[in-house]
Amino acid sequence: MKIAIIAAEIAPHAKAGGLADVIAAMPGALKAAGAEPHIIVPAYRALVESVDSKPIGEPIALRMGDREERFSVRCATDRHGVPLYLIDHPEFFGRAGIYGDGGILYSDNNRRYIFFGRAAATVAARMIDPTVVHAHDWHAAAAVISARADNSISAGFNRALLAFTIHNMAFQGLSDASEFGLLGIDRKYLSTECLEFFGKMNLMKGAIALADAVSTVSPAYAREISSGPEHGFGLEGVLAAKGENFTGILNGADYEDWDPAHDRDIAAAYSRTSPAGKRACVRALRAATGLPNREGTPIAGMVTRMTEQKGMGLLRDALDELMRLDLQLVLLAAGDSAFEEFFRAAERRYPDKLRTIIDFDEAAAHRVQAGSDAFLMPSQFEPCGLTQMYAMRYGTIPVVRATGGLRDTVSEFDPATGTGTGFMFEEFKAEAMVSALGRMIAVHRDSAAWRRIMDNCFAADFSWDRAARQYLDWFARMRNSHGLD
Ligand code: ADP
Ligand code: GLC
Repeated sequence: MKIAIIAAEIAPHAKAGGLADVIAAMPGALKAAGAEPHIIVPAYRALVESVDSKPIGEPIALRMGDREERFSVRCATDRHGVPLYLIDHPEFFGRAGIYGDGGILYSDNNRRYIFFGRAAATVAARMIDPTVVHAHDWHAAAAVISARADNSISAGFNRALLAFTIHNMAFQGLSDASEFGLLGIDRKYLSTECLEFFGKMNLMKGAIALADAVSTVSPAYAREISSGPEHGFGLEGVLAAKGENFTGILNGADYEDWDPAHDRDIAAAYSRTSPAGKRACVRALRAATGLPNREGTPIAGMVTRMTEQKGMGLLRDALDELMRLDLQLVLLAAGDSAFEEFFRAAERRYPDKLRTIIDFDEAAAHRVQAGSDAFLMPSQFEPCGLTQMYAMRYGTIPVVRATGGLRDTVSEFDPATGTGTGFMFEEFKAEAMVSALGRMIAVHRDSAAWRRIMDNCFAADFSWDRAARQYLDWFARMRNSHGLD
């Protein structure tokens, strides 16, 4: 099975969040499971500078409205030997950031990613001839739309399954309907069934409508986004209409990058069978952040984009109450400047209990994971969430809101039976979060129970082999039901 994976991010050089981790790990796992993946991403400046690539083929021209966009393709391989195609258009992608710079989104993102999707579909048709096109999130939506509706290339995809995976329903690629011309397809597709959305153009909606098969990154989130507007953000109807062609497949965790036994960024190596190094990592985090050394007090860590999705508003409102608990909190986060300001100022009010590190720093993320006793994720919604899976591998106990992928990956610890991997709360309310943290603190005081929950976390296995097999089964099932075999 030849799979053209099309996405806007790939770790470590082009990363804004979990999508990048997925695109760095999934292709290798698909290859190990016997498939032939190919990856297509934009040639961002950081990628071109850090990946060894060379140009292939002739430059290609695409007409986008009244402009002709020319691009070339650079070819490389990822760390698993999977072919990586970079769509090289310096004006669009030779920039300092991915989606923006200095906290401000680029104003031409719709144009950039419509271009990317169309260019990627063109490259897939000419250079890959895939059995499956697998496009991720709205930035790659135009690839599905073109593969289906652009007459100049759609014939090349007659025997291909068009699959689209949603990583976050909150970002749909909405633009003014006047930008429809950039797609270069028949006007009939700007219909209510397809790309039109309350007078605007919605790229994600178009990809959902036109794909043969649609998925999202956890079974719980699949139920949530197809059942109502709270999580579906207006696309719940189009999703529900996909019926059997819509599913949820839980992401894997990348244990090549996230494993305390082989992590060069942390103070001491450790593992399930030899967990002693964990204490050195906790001491190192306290030393690095200047938090007073209170051995009996657990440290809760957070590594996150600083946004409403991640529960930063809830944390802000609950902070005073939370700081009354016997707990220290280390926040590694960057994003919304109002939140950044609030938590920076809060640190001055709670010098013994709170540290706010405003940064996006990969090595620091590893040190917070390893150096924390618990890992807090009070998300408003969470399509999958990878950091709670990484936390478990580091023996760091997740305290999470029961939503989306958090519901599918964490289970409440029961001190009576010793089962469960974390602490969960249902209601998106301060009391519920504080109560879950209180249960965590109580278990932390009982060293035998704490050893047990840590061991349960160490033993949890979210490896990509399982996820890759599920994707391949799904592709095969969908090809079969669409008469593509
Ligand atoms: P999302 O994609 O919604 O941000 P995920 O849990 O799927 O959430 O993935 C987040 C990824 O980004 C993880 O690899 C996490 O370690 C990383 N990350 C998030 N915030 C930061 C930060 N401030 N510094 C370093 N890495 C971060
Ligand atoms: C999105 C989601 C996150 C998910 C990630 C990878 O960024 O917010 O929950 O883990 O994609 O699928």
